[in-house]
Order: sequence, then C-alpha cells, then structure tokens
Amino acid sequence: MQLLGINGSMRKDGNTNILLETVMKSAKKLNPKLKTKILQMSKLNIKPCESCYEKCCVKPCKCVIKGDDLEIVCDELKSADAVVIGSPLYFNIPARLTALLERLTCLSYFYQVRGFKGPEPLENIPCGLISVSAGNDTMPVLQHLLNFVLFVKMKPILLKTYPYMGISGCGGYKDSIDEAKALGELLVKSITAQKT
Ligand SMILES: Cc1cc2nc3c(=O)[nH]c(=O)nc-3n(C[C@H](O)[C@H](O)[C@H](O)COP(=O)(O)O)c2cc1C
Repeated sequence: MQLLGINGSMRKDGNTNILLETVMKSAKKLNPKLKTKILQMSKLNIKPCESCYEKCCVKPCKCVIKGDDLEIVCDELKSADAVVIGSPLYFNIPARLTALLERLTCLSYFYQVRGFKGPEPLENIPCGLISVSAGNDTMPVLQHLLNFVLFVKMKPILLKTYPYMGISGCGGYKDSIDEAKALGELLVKSITAQKT
C-alpha cells in the first residue's frame, strides 16, 4: 500500500510540506505497513501542455512532450493507492503544478476521446487536498485542485471541517495540523475500504 504526496510548492521544506508530512505520519500511525512518498515539484522538470490535440494520447496516457519528468509522476500516481496534493497560494497555484495538472488532465480527456476501454489510470484513487497561504483565502486553490481531481475521476476525500474540500492553512500551517492528522486517517480508511 502506497500513499503518494505531491508538494506543489517551490519550497521543499515549507508550510505545504509540513502538512503533507503530518498527513503521512498520521496515515502511517494507523497503518504501519503503509509506504509513503512525497514528490517535490521543485525538484521536477515539467513542461506545460502544448495543446497538440490530434497527437495527444495516441497511445493510452502518452504525452508527445519528451525529455521531462511527466512519466515519473504518471508512474508514481498509477501505482499509488491514495494521493494527497498540496499547494500554496501563489495568487493562484504555482506554475509548475499548473503545468502538471494541464498535462494530466489532457491525457485523461484524450483517453476518452480516443475511445480507450477500461477505467482511466487515476480513476477512483482516493485523493486529499491541502492548501496554504500567507493570509489570503485558500478557497480558489482548493477549488482548482478539486476540479482537477473530479476531471481525472479520482475520488475526492472530503473533510468534516470547513472548508470541507481539503485543508486550508490560511495564515500558515499551525491551525491545520489536526486536519492533516484527520486527513491521513481518512485516506487510510479509504484505501482499506477499496481493498475489502
Ligand atoms: C509567487 C508567490 C505568490 C504568492 N501569493 C500569495 C497570495 O496571493 N496570498 C497569500 O496569502 N499568500 C501568497 N503567497 C505566500 C504563500 O502562499 C505562503 O508563503 C505559503 O506558506 C507558501 O507555501 P510553502 O511554505 O509551502 O512554500 C505567495 C507566495 C509566492 C512565492
């Protein structure tokens, strides 16, 4: 069982990562056999979508853009039992994370357009969301990430506390530690429910 985190921040040890690590720790506490990993967008080279249309996803989920790290992320996502995506508010979301979501969303859309059979690679994978900001509302970030999750047919893991879509570290991360612990537990429960 693997829980994959994606840190969209360009700071690998910032507030987003603190919450991601808290989710991982809490999930591991509930299931010590769980493997956890956090992909750092700051360490990955992801080029933006080139809107190639007729060449997009000619083979299932294969992007025409070569020479970057998309395949690494795709492989990690496909083998994950659950995912948690974290992003700071950079007016909207960071450019490199935007590039990743563009590419993944296109591959999913064109998977359907090409008429490939069977579930899409990310379909039904439980996915939790985290956003942090220096003080502004993180809702636009969570809404953007939730749209992505729904578009690629992952299963959003909602929280019982406001803003429900995910964790909002508005003004940092300190008030959100409990939510991060709760999200870690919910992700483990969601994996277990899918496997039984
Ligand atoms: C380019 C950029 C734009 C930002 N825009 C906003 C913003 O509009 N509102 C806000 O409250 N914080 C903004 N921030 C602050 C970050 O959201 C905040 O410092 C957050 O904790 C960074 O996450 P990290 O610690 O994981 O890197 C911005 C930061 C950067 C680098």
